[in-house]
Amino acid sequence: MENDPIQILIRMETSDDYAVVREVNYAAFGNRDDEADLVARIRSSAEFIPELSLVADRDGSVVGHLLISKASIVNGSTSHDVLVLAPIAILPAHQKRGVGGLLIREGLNRSRVLGYAAVLLIGHPTYYPRFGFRPASSFGMELKQFTVPDDVFMAYELYDGALKGIAGELQYPAAFF
Ligand SMILES: CC(C)(COP(=O)(O)OP(=O)(O)OC[C@H]1O[C@@H](n2cnc3c(N)ncnc32)[C@H](O)[C@@H]1OP(=O)(O)O)[C@@H](O)C(=O)NCCC(=O)NCCS
Repeated sequence: MENDPIQILIRMETSDDYAVVREVNYAAFGNRDDEADLVARIRSSAEFIPELSLVADRDGSVVGHLLISKASIVNGSTSHDVLVLAPIAILPAHQKRGVGGLLIREGLNRSRVLGYAAVLLIGHPTYYPRFGFRPASSFGMELKQFTVPDDVFMAYELYDGALKGIAGELQYPAAFF
């Protein structure tokens, strides 16, 4: 493949994209269905936000997909809505060319415009910090549903101080299980 910058349009997914988005997730995650199935479960759940299911469209073909959906930070009887980023998938032949970065930055911008406070995720600890993600533990966030190293559980404030006073346990909704 040539090394010229590629022209990519980041746009909302439509139902016409569902089949190719399944293929993108299947291929990106090493030919397994788990993440494609997760996408399907989130789409049919109450936590789905259609505006935050984004595809990277290269001249009419989908080469990447990002899904951001709703979750909760729970502290005792208090619950706050936040967003979780999962999954993100770029077709193997299109990886390491900035497509993932385009999707993440656009996803964060659209999340901010929609009025959400923060995006949390479990992901590669060397990749997401470049977009401003920090260990979620530094915001007083806990994760009990999954046992993961501290540095892979990350949070991003969509505006300064967004997570102030919102410490608690991130609870992923049923679609994730
Ligand atoms: C991870 C992924 C979304 C990144 O998208 P991308 O378009 O390839 O990434 P970008 O071009 O924006 O950024 C490239 C950088 O990401 C890094 N990167 C890619 N995959 C990585 C991984 N698994 N762990 C850590 N860093 C990774 C590259 O090393 C590169 O770093 P550099 O800029 O220092 O050279 C993509 O590689 C992918 O779909 N991977 C398979 C599925 C997956 O692992 N999803 C994420 C689950 S948290």
